[in-house]
This record gives sequence, structure tokens and C-alpha cells, in this order.
Amino acid sequence: MEILLVSPETVPFSKSGGLADVVGALSKALEEMNIGVEVFMPFYPFIDKKGFKEIGTVSANTLSGSFDAKLYRVIKDKVSYVALDHPLFSMRDGIYGASSFQPYPDNAKRFYIFSLSALLYAEESGKDIVHANDWATGILPYLMNVRKSKAKSVYTIHNLAYQGNFSKYDALSFGIPLDDTLFEGKVGKERLNLMKAGILNADLVTTVSKTYAKEILTSEFGYGLEKYLGECSGRLIGITNGIDTNEWDPGKDKNLKHKFSSTSLEGKEKMKKLVLEENGLEYKKDRPLFAMISRLADQKGFSELLDGDDTLMEKILQEDISFILIGTGEKRFENKLKELEGRFSNFKANIIFDQKESHKLEAAADFFLMPSRYEPCGLNQMYSERYGALPIAHKTGGLEDTIVDVGENKDSGTGFLFEKMTSEEILSTVRKAIKFYNEDKDGYLAARKRGMNADFTWKKSAESYIEAYKSILGRKKK
Ligand code: GLC
Repeated sequence: MEILLVSPETVPFSKSGGLADVVGALSKALEEMNIGVEVFMPFYPFIDKKGFKEIGTVSANTLSGSFDAKLYRVIKDKVSYVALDHPLFSMRDGIYGASSFQPYPDNAKRFYIFSLSALLYAEESGKDIVHANDWATGILPYLMNVRKSKAKSVYTIHNLAYQGNFSKYDALSFGIPLDDTLFEGKVGKERLNLMKAGILNADLVTTVSKTYAKEILTSEFGYGLEKYLGECSGRLIGITNGIDTNEWDPGKDKNLKHKFSSTSLEGKEKMKKLVLEENGLEYKKDRPLFAMISRLADQKGFSELLDGDDTLMEKILQEDISFILIGTGEKRFENKLKELEGRFSNFKANIIFDQKESHKLEAAADFFLMPSRYEPCGLNQMYSERYGALPIAHKTGGLEDTIVDVGENKDSGTGFLFEKMTSEEILSTVRKAIKFYNEDKDGYLAARKRGMNADFTWKKSAESYIEAYKSILGRKKK
């Protein structure tokens, strides 16, 4: 079985979010299980060219002209990565845009060319499965049906809110036959919707946790596409992401000056002291350190935390805790966080996107706050558990599938979950967590150790993907 995993971003070459982590880790896990897998990605200018070898070209016609692009390959950790060297990617500094709030105006064309090139490569190299991810590759399953490709398609939804919505005229420039599965909206107002195209045309649709697979069938989480997802039930499954437990191992992590494990926790206390001091905050042994590492966006709960007067964040900061945040995103949130940093001596807001500091903060923290409105899977809660920081999170999507609430399950809990996404409930859960930390030291330590020992490896998830791939291989086309 030969798989081509197609993604606009993948660790270790490019990353804007969790999608990159997942593609990087899933491909490694598949390779370790002796499944033939290659990752197809754009060759961005910021990727180090060392080790890449030219392996051929892809060429095709579109209405806006023909193109010829070189393909390069590199083997990294035994996984083969194929990079598309096309000026729409190699002459841009960003993945989707100059920043996440300024997408490139020609993204429909960029990712059409990318998807088509991936397919041409898959056909030429005789792949059995083409596995596309998120809106940027949503057109791939459609192209496979148009071209009557022999390979089967899997389409994974990592975040349904980002659908790849473009003018319908963008689709005309592709120079391919068009049908209704590509467009969404009222008659006369249709727009190209790449996510919808992926959902309706793939042989199998997956998403990144079991709970999210159910949630997206409802209007609250379906972002208008719930009716199509409902139609493809039977073709839709949830496979909860794992994490790369080699990269995220507090016993071996190169980013940590002091290493630790569930049976030897002194290093964790030392990391707490170090990180607090580096952030200019006072270290007090029994004062809990809260952490957040997040995109600063509504999805992640920042309206609930920061909007209005007398905000929730201020109430949290009035508790006897320290709090360090790492993240970038919407300016209004960045500004508010900086203002709070000026007023609270127990709070540091680092407006950065930084892997090393993220690893260190997870190692230092006692609690990790993750009040996402919705969360397809989420990875930081698992990184936190593994690094001994109890997550405090909204009971939704992958958060529900990867955290056991310690209030309800004293003997198996690994964190705190709240049901309703309201400021009151977030605050009362934070206070419950602080009380637990202060008054039930043994209970807290036991929960910490359970989280550190939980199995978040990719093996289980990769096995589910292999089963899913196998299930469609023999199937006839729709
Ligand atoms: C997206 C989702 C996140 C998920 C990640 C990887 O970033 O928002 O919940 O963990 O994709 O699948």
C-alpha cells in the first residue's frame, strides 16, 4: 500500500499550526509500521535546500496558462518528502499569506496548482491512496474523480471553520469541468468552497477526534457544511491525533536545561524557577504557575478572557498564582494582554511564536489553560499532560477525548473540564484547580503523574488510519 500525504505545511519544514505537527508525526508513524508513505509539500523559500535532490517535473495546462515545475526529494527520519518548486510558493515568504490575517489574493490558484501537481505525482508514482488535508487540498478528491484516477482519496478535516472560500470566478480559471460540489451559497451568490469539495468528493472523510466527528454534524459546529457531512455519514470517521512523543519527552528534551520524568520531578521544579525568573516573575515554591500557549483568536477563548470591563483575565490574575502566556494573533488581544502585563506583577505576556520557549513553559507549568470555544483535536493539552501541567479546558472536541476530569474521576483524572463556555464557569473551574493544588497535594501529584504516563503515541492513531486506508482500497468508485 503506497500513500501520498498531501499538505501545505509539515514539520520539520514548515508550520503555522497543528496540521504541520500531525502530518510530520503521522508520516513517521506510518513509516515505522512499514507502510510506504511520502509527503507532498510546497518548496517554500525558508526551507533549507540541503539534502534535496531533483527527481523530475510536473506539467499541466490551466486556462491561465501552462506550467512546468520541478520536484525535489529529501529523506528525513526515514520519511520521503517531495517538494514542489513552483514560483507561487518558492517566491512567497508565507504559507498562506504575509501573515495569518493577510492571505495572498491568489490562494485559490496557488493551492489548485499545488493539488493538481500532487495528483500528477501520485499518478506517475503509482500511489494507492492520496490523503489530502484541510481546505488547501480540498480540490484534490474532486480532481481525482474528474480524472478517474485509480487511487482512492482520503480527506482529513483539521478545522472546519477555515473552508477555502473564494469567488466562483477563481474556479473558472482552473480550466477544468466544474460541478455543484465545488460551490456553496444561494443561487447567484455561489462561492468556490474547497472544504465542501473535499467532503463531497473523497472516498473517505476523517477528522481529528471522535467527539469533533459528531459535533460537526450540528449547526453549532458545522459552519454551514453540516448537511453535507450528514449525507456522508458512513464515510466520515474520527481518529484522534497522537503527539510526537520523541519531540515531546521531558526526559530528553533538548530545550530543557533540567530534564525530568514522572518518577523524578525535581527537574520540573527547577524549570519552574528558571522560567519564572527568565520572565521576570517571582518564584515561590507553592504558588501554582499557569500557562497558555495559543493563537490569540476568538476560537481559543480570548473574547471570554479579555473582552469588556473587569475582565475574566483580571479576575484570574487576582488569585495567588503566576501566569505566563505565549502567543501571537489579533492585535486587540495582543494590546490588552500587554496592558494587563503592565498592571499585574504576576503576569507575563510573550507576544511570540517560539518552539523552544513553548517547550520550556510546558515544562515549568503546573496548569495549562485552554478555553477553546471548539477544538477539533488540540495538541497542547496533550503536551501539557506529558510535561506534568494539568490542563483546564472546555469539554469539547478533542479536549473531551484526551483529558479526564479529576473532579468527576478522582482516581483517573488528568485535568479539569468545564461544560459551558462562560466566563463564570471558566473562573470557577480555575478556582477549583487552585484549591485542588493547595489543599490536596497528593491528589494533584497523582493526577500529574497519570497525565505524564498517559499513552498519546501515534501508534494507535496510525493503526486506525491504516485500517481506514484498507477499508476503501477494494471499494468501487461512487
Ligand atoms: C487544527 C485544529 C486543532 C488540531 C490540529 C491538528 O489546527 O484547530 O484542533 O489539533 O488542526 O489536527
